[in-house]
Amino acid sequence: MADSKAAADPGAGRFARFGAWIDARFPMTKMWQEHAAAYYAPKNFNFWYYFGSLALFVLALQIVTGIFLTMSYKPSAEEAFGSVEYIMRDVEWGWLIRYLHSTGASAFFIVVYLHMFRALLYGSHRNPRELLWILGVLIYVALMAEAFFGYLLPWGNMSYWGAQVIVSLFGTFPLIGDALIEWIRGDYFMSDITLNRFFALHVVALPLVLIFLVVAHLLALHEVGSNNPDGIEIKKAKGPDGRPLDGIPFHPYYTVKDVFGLGVFLVLFAGVVFFAPELGGLFLEAPNFEPANPLLTPEHIAPVWYFTPYYAILRAVPAFLNTQVWGVLVLFAAVLLLFFVPWLDRAPVNSIRYRGPVYKTALMIFAADFIMLGYCGLKPAVAPFTMMSVIGTIVYFAFFLLMPWYTRIDRTRPEPARVTK
Ligand code: HEM
Repeated sequence: MADSKAAADPGAGRFARFGAWIDARFPMTKMWQEHAAAYYAPKNFNFWYYFGSLALFVLALQIVTGIFLTMSYKPSAEEAFGSVEYIMRDVEWGWLIRYLHSTGASAFFIVVYLHMFRALLYGSHRNPRELLWILGVLIYVALMAEAFFGYLLPWGNMSYWGAQVIVSLFGTFPLIGDALIEWIRGDYFMSDITLNRFFALHVVALPLVLIFLVVAHLLALHEVGSNNPDGIEIKKAKGPDGRPLDGIPFHPYYTVKDVFGLGVFLVLFAGVVFFAPELGGLFLEAPNFEPANPLLTPEHIAPVWYFTPYYAILRAVPAFLNTQVWGVLVLFAAVLLLFFVPWLDRAPVNSIRYRGPVYKTALMIFAADFIMLGYCGLKPAVAPFTMMSVIGTIVYFAFFLLMPWYTRIDRTRPEPARVTK
């Protein structure tokens, strides 16, 4: 309305008239209203609600720094390692761009893990947000693929051998295993051809998939509306104007809150980028400062920390059953289970605030277990880590598979009618 007035009003400012011109041809103001200025979010968002917008920021950071890295990187087995060294030493600000990207990869997983944990805290995965959660799990899977392909690109010795181990997992499938590995690598061994296709997947295919999934994730979120730390629907209590009584417009309230969160995040992030970009070998591993050498296996092959919980699960099963293929199947099952959480959780309430002691304990044990599995995955497959991985894997599966039972028998408290704090 105001904009059609602006278009008609010759006295309106140039800026307003330009906006009106666009609005007549593209739903700019309409989208801004729908998704920001008139999008009502619960007024009680807390610390845990920073991580969605931070994930968005890190996604943008990875895309921008990735574009600049691609300008000097050479995706060939001959030149890849050298081109990364060239970026670090000779390209202006190249070291910063590379460290922003490598630290960004780890930051992405930290932020996404905390974001997922928030869902389990407040029941954000439950009706009516199942699809939002499923899109989230798809993002997580795509993110793992993106990180895996990216890790091969520096063509360091850990890149080479890490990829070799993961790709050879597919060889454990009976009958099709060998053909599958060859198809993935595009060659009989990890070669220039493999590097080239991983490059294509890392810089084009998976970023597109991620962007598409994130847009779908946000559209699904705005369709159902955000959950909140009380786990109750703010749409149920509306004022005479039809607006949720416990809602506030996303802009300016949460844009300001998110900018504050971003500020704190950037301080911590810059601390790592400038003072500890390798983070003791956790974010960048020592063997990766040596070029790939097919004849020299690193003393101890371990993936980057964000994969290690699943790596520990993968290694736990053969330690127990003495067969590799089951390890791979259990690994896939561990990720697949995440899709079903909305239906495994049968509690009558959403938020941890009103759940009983059983779920609270189960969730805390699960979080500790996931960290312990991550630690075991970083360590060599020897005692006591093998036994710890076996126990950790059992606890991981028990958390999900027993969920329908323990969420039902738990002593929950009634949810309030309106949000509290
Ligand atoms: C690139 C990765 C991701 C981005 C950019 C992203 C973005 C967002 C944003 C901006 C929000 C709203 C703000 C907030 O609630 O914090 C949100 C909500 C949500 N996300 Fe994600 N997300 C990502 C990954 C995931 C993953 C991996 C999952 C779960 C497997 C997930 C599950 C959810 C759920 C359940 C909500 C609703 C939370 C609530 O209303 O309480 N997201 N996401």
